[in-house]
Amino acid sequence: MAPNDPSLSPAPTPETDPERLERAILSRLLGWQTMRGEVTFPCIPALAERYAQQVQGLARTLGQPFDAAALARLQALMAQRLEEGYGASPYSQLLVRYQTVPGPEPQLSWKVETVVVSSAQQARHFLRYRPPEVHDRYPDAKVEAIAATLGDPANAPILDVGAGPGRNAIALARRGHPVVAIEPNEAMAQQLRTMVERSGQSVQILERNILDGEFDLARDRYAAILLTGVVPYFDQVDQLRLLFQKLAPALRPGGLLLFDAFVGTGGWVPTRLVREWGRVTDAYPLAAAELEAAIAGLPLVLVSDEDALAYERDRLSPEARQARPWFDRWASGSRLFQLPRDRVPPMSLRWRVYERSRDR
Ligand SMILES: C[S@@+](CC[C@H](N)C(=O)[O-])C[C@H]1O[C@@H](n2cnc3c(N)ncnc32)[C@H](O)[C@@H]1O
Repeated sequence: MAPNDPSLSPAPTPETDPERLERAILSRLLGWQTMRGEVTFPCIPALAERYAQQVQGLARTLGQPFDAAALARLQALMAQRLEEGYGASPYSQLLVRYQTVPGPEPQLSWKVETVVVSSAQQARHFLRYRPPEVHDRYPDAKVEAIAATLGDPANAPILDVGAGPGRNAIALARRGHPVVAIEPNEAMAQQLRTMVERSGQSVQILERNILDGEFDLARDRYAAILLTGVVPYFDQVDQLRLLFQKLAPALRPGGLLLFDAFVGTGGWVPTRLVREWGRVTDAYPLAAAELEAAIAGLPLVLVSDEDALAYERDRLSPEARQARPWFDRWASGSRLFQLPRDRVPPMSLRWRVYERSRDR
């Protein structure tokens, strides 16, 4: 007779302990429950491990935690999907779905997908949430100040690159400047056309990506070129350099280039997480050395470098400030970082003005 013959084992004991019986019922209960849900995360590849831990927390709450091997597989899959999503568009979402699978051994099934949200879709969402008729009625104080230095407006054409809904372009046209507005995002460009039409002003609108190699700008033409809120869309120094390389010759000698950029304080260099999050929120911060590298050697001479938040706060009318609460939130960096009151972000939004050098 085999030594482990079941007929030799002691008879199993009936379990009567109420707590153990309850646990035994709970492990069967999953098959009788319906659990279904989804969680979305912004596609930030640097957060793959943290997101996987969050999903594990949820799985624990649902009574079905992942074992170590399954958790490692989940994290690898999430990392891959996050890279794919972020690569396709910084507005993409990671969608994690779960649901109970009925059967004799009930369990939860998990699905991890990427939902690509294009720039145009993001812009449509943005325009609904922040209607330009309400929030984009006022130009930047710095833009007005620059325009006031350009002499006769009729002889001072201005190029507004990344014009968005056109608050600056329209204000400049109203002052009498010939204005060309470039806006590649179809939803924004549509809004720009509507806003220009309603204003009764004349603005030439070009629905182009400024970096498009087949799109040339007239040389020596503009008295000023504006890039307001645009540099924080550029997350590659070489692309930023291409941008400045293209704009510099389009300025007249002595013409002004105005842009705002989030620049690291002191020698601060953003981490990978800060960079990815900055790109997702259209507030990409540059290390000071990166901005200098993007401009070095071009015929552009620095005229001024000011704190943009303080500049606008000190000069905008109370109505203008009230109409654009988004500006303080964005410019202060608090959209990126929720810090205690006694701390500030390691970067600030700068207004930079450069003059096209006069020697040709
Ligand atoms: C935050 S909005 C600013 C709009 C406007 N300049 C303002 O200050 O209200 C930034 C705009 O830059 C545009 N943009 C981003 N990349 C661009 C590119 N490569 N060429 C032209 N415009 C671009 C976006 O489509 C977006 O409308």
